[in-house]
Amino acid sequence: MFFLGTQKVNAQGHLEIGGCDCVELARKFGTPLYVLDEALIRRNCRDYRAAFERRYPHVEIIYATKACLTTALCRIMQQEGLSLDTASAGELFTALKAEFPAEKIYLHGNFKSTRELEMALSARVGRIVVDSELELEQLNALAARRGQVADILLRVTPAVDPHTHEYIQTGKVDTKFGLGIGTGAAMQGVKRALSLKHLRLHGFHSHIGSQILDVHFFEMGAELLVAFIKAVAEATGFEAKELNVGGGLGIKYVSEHKPPTKEEFAEALVGAVKRACAKYRVALPKLMLEPGRSIIGDAGITLYTVGPIKDINGVRTYVSVDGGLSDNPRPALYQARYSLILANRPLDDEKQVVTVVGKHCESDMLFENVTLPKLQPGDILAVQSTGAYNFSMSSNYNRFPRPAVVLVHDGRAELIVRRQTLEDLIAQDIIPERLR
Ligand code: LLP
Repeated sequence: MFFLGTQKVNAQGHLEIGGCDCVELARKFGTPLYVLDEALIRRNCRDYRAAFERRYPHVEIIYATKACLTTALCRIMQQEGLSLDTASAGELFTALKAEFPAEKIYLHGNFKSTRELEMALSARVGRIVVDSELELEQLNALAARRGQVADILLRVTPAVDPHTHEYIQTGKVDTKFGLGIGTGAAMQGVKRALSLKHLRLHGFHSHIGSQILDVHFFEMGAELLVAFIKAVAEATGFEAKELNVGGGLGIKYVSEHKPPTKEEFAEALVGAVKRACAKYRVALPKLMLEPGRSIIGDAGITLYTVGPIKDINGVRTYVSVDGGLSDNPRPALYQARYSLILANRPLDDEKQVVTVVGKHCESDMLFENVTLPKLQPGDILAVQSTGAYNFSMSSNYNRFPRPAVVLVHDGRAELIVRRQTLEDLIAQDIIPERLR
């Protein structure tokens, strides 16, 4: 067991987060419940900025909203001086509705719809990160029609293989994303971009993968990107002023994970960029990063209520909780592992090994073979590090309403997303006239 951020055991012997008792949170807001530790989110933002701004002349930290996005979170990111990476009309709409400054919004995606590109142009977002030659042509045509020049980065793939889970690798050769450097597609894309009158190319973007715990992969990526900047300058005369190296820094889900600190990450990445720029005699570009998980992942917990416990003698003990696949698809999708705390008796020392399962109509394993105090129905379980890619990947499978999201800070607990109601679940359903 380990504690993160403001978590501790309080005088009642309960798990506390952001000065709020988790048992109380469960009682007040119901379970399953996503809880976000505002102080830790802010600290992660500040640690990123401090670590990079101290080492590099011009840095922009861009929060990857796919990790977790609500309008309140946009406000926090704005207050902390971060920009936003959006990857869909929905994410962009959320940011704009929260009145986030458009010039600090990035739009990503390997297949941006015309509507998404129009939205980005009309809001005048800071940069559109173009992913393909087709998109170069489409965006140029749309911008021309509007009498605009679109500010773009070109997404390139440097072929780094960070050995994370196969589904979350995005930077290697065999990827749907971006234009390959090794294949010549990236150079061709640059030439095309430079020839189009309604596009203004500022530099390059690359994202090599996610939950990366070894900074070496970022160093390799940086070196390849700077080499590409040099090759482009020689071939076309275009000197890239901006280099966006994506996100990907891993976090601690289980005790064995030893993620690099933001300081260690900055030291390695900035070192690699500076060394490569010196080696290739390239002026230092503005450096952008797009962390998602390492901003919000460890700041979130999920609270569940324990239900039936089924002990199959000599086989295993199943503990059912009142959520599952719909609020956390990551164990099923990525074999992701998590650490758990018994929120109402965290320090109880009578231990047992159990398998925690969800309540969906299938064998939705959540956490296999975890060691916990002896459990009873009604206990409150807290799952660590669910801040990233849990709420954002949640679904209504089995028509489960999506859980609420509560922001905790200094003893205050405030809803930032209300729990869906049963009525919400049928709000978009339509019965055609002939079936009435
Ligand atoms: N920038 C781009 C272009 C990305 O594609 C991603 C994540 C990020 C930034 C942020 O990466 P992070 O710092 O969060 O690692 N659903 C998966 C994660 C997919 C990540 C996809 N791209 C999961 O639950 O593990």
